Amino acid sequence: MYSDRIRLASLQSKITSAAEAASLIKDGMVVGMSGFTRAGEAKAVPMALAERGKSEPVHITLVTGASLGNDLDKMLTESGVLARRMPFQADPTLRKAINAGKVMFTDQHLSDTMEAMRSGQLRKPEVTIVEAVAITEEGHIVPSTSVGNSANLVQYAEKVIVEINLTHRLNLEGAHDIYIPSPRPDRTPVPLLSPEQRIGVPAIPCDPAKIAAIVICEIPDSPSNVLPPDDETQAIANHLIDFFKKEVAEGRLTNSLMPLQVGIGTIANAVTCGLIDSPFTDIVQYSEVLQDSTFALMDAGKLKFASGCSMTLSEEVGAKVYGNFEKYKDKVVLRPQEISNHPELVRRLGIIGINTALEFDIYGNVNSTHVGGTHMMNGIGGSGDFARNAHIAVFVTKSIAKGGSISSVVPMVSHVDHTEHDVDVLVTEQGLADLRGLAPRERARVIIDNCVHPDYRAALNEYFDKACAKGGHTPHVIGEALSWHVNLAERGHMLAK
Ligand code: COA
Repeated sequence: MYSDRIRLASLQSKITSAAEAASLIKDGMVVGMSGFTRAGEAKAVPMALAERGKSEPVHITLVTGASLGNDLDKMLTESGVLARRMPFQADPTLRKAINAGKVMFTDQHLSDTMEAMRSGQLRKPEVTIVEAVAITEEGHIVPSTSVGNSANLVQYAEKVIVEINLTHRLNLEGAHDIYIPSPRPDRTPVPLLSPEQRIGVPAIPCDPAKIAAIVICEIPDSPSNVLPPDDETQAIANHLIDFFKKEVAEGRLTNSLMPLQVGIGTIANAVTCGLIDSPFTDIVQYSEVLQDSTFALMDAGKLKFASGCSMTLSEEVGAKVYGNFEKYKDKVVLRPQEISNHPELVRRLGIIGINTALEFDIYGNVNSTHVGGTHMMNGIGGSGDFARNAHIAVFVTKSIAKGGSISSVVPMVSHVDHTEHDVDVLVTEQGLADLRGLAPRERARVIIDNCVHPDYRAALNEYFDKACAKGGHTPHVIGEALSWHVNLAERGHMLAK
């Protein structure tokens, strides 16, 4: 049975039902699971676990690579199975439970979770459930559309459940490069010298004796839910491309730029699509999630290689890419997220990091996670891994949100994910602020002049003038710095009186 998918014959006897496999998970356990931004998560077993949670108390800590598809976080929240979740999520039901204090969410830099687990600072999983396209003759696990934290979670777990997902073709085999750093303090440097290089093995090493159950699954990945570019995201892309052209003209970048990291979401995807009509060639991506835009750039002959830790594609692009993966395989590699997001590699390879902000302030501090300073949106994800160490750290956002009742440029951010020290360039559809080498008062000037929506510019100038009159290296009127957020919370508009 499935001998092309389960090539170690002795493991054939481990094939079981999802419910049977889920019964290995007990109340109070730490469970590791594959899955990164709707790609490659285990599906049938967590669904069976959610079902069991409806009639039996099972509360777990769930550790994945990042967010999950197929409404898994929703199902596991609704059935009360999720007690603690890390390191990222993007599900409305789970978000609500987190903000109600019902699920404890540990929002982490995505490169960091496995480091903390390896060193015993986080409890290791009793069980890891990992999606695979196949198990090799040695019992090693060939992941599917994401690597994320799967390799580490398999290594650290006592027992492993493998979901063989028949909706993924075997042609994915060979796309992965599994390299796990050794423990500190005697670790040698990660030997990656360029984004195209392979430094590991094509499957997740696993002692076959640890594989406790194998479940055959035919549930596909959820397609990506990013929206197509609109006028504003196109304007953001245009500003950024003009900036890159200037950098090339002034000799700080070549026409291939530097390896690009592009964050999740609609805006970041649109920015990458904008590169299709740019003069840049032979671009390389060293990123986290490979989105539709990665393959659009490849097809346009602009992108020559993409390194990531997952592929999250729309239905249309997914059908094209996975149906014809031989065409892309030598141009793509999927790595563990502690390698795709590795701070030392990001610094050494000179990555240009482009991520999305919810809001930023006049001095360049960025909030990527907390709406109104208190309510979790998704999490910091990999944005901090890249921003702090990037060759150029760019943050993009539309200048207003929710029909104009919110300005994304505020006197003071209500939560800080990326400090003024980590941010080089800010872009909205209004324009681009190049903050490199500027002092706080200079930064405020270029941000207000270039990025703010016209409806908010006068009010922000007024605030800045008032703050400067009070003095300081980073002038503020402390009693008023969050007044825009107070207005929004109390009166529904940031400038409401
Ligand atoms: N205050 C409140 N809400 C805001 C806001 C603000 N200042 N700015 C945007 N929003 C809302 C939007 O209105 C939208 O709401 P909706 O879902 O109800 O329509 C939502 O936030 C998403 O904004 P959108 O403009 O569609 O951007 P996006 O899809 O690109 O997502 C982030 C933006 C910041 C939420 C997303 O990029 C993220 O989670 N980032 C953090 C993780 C990260 O950067 N990872 C990258 C490493 S790969």
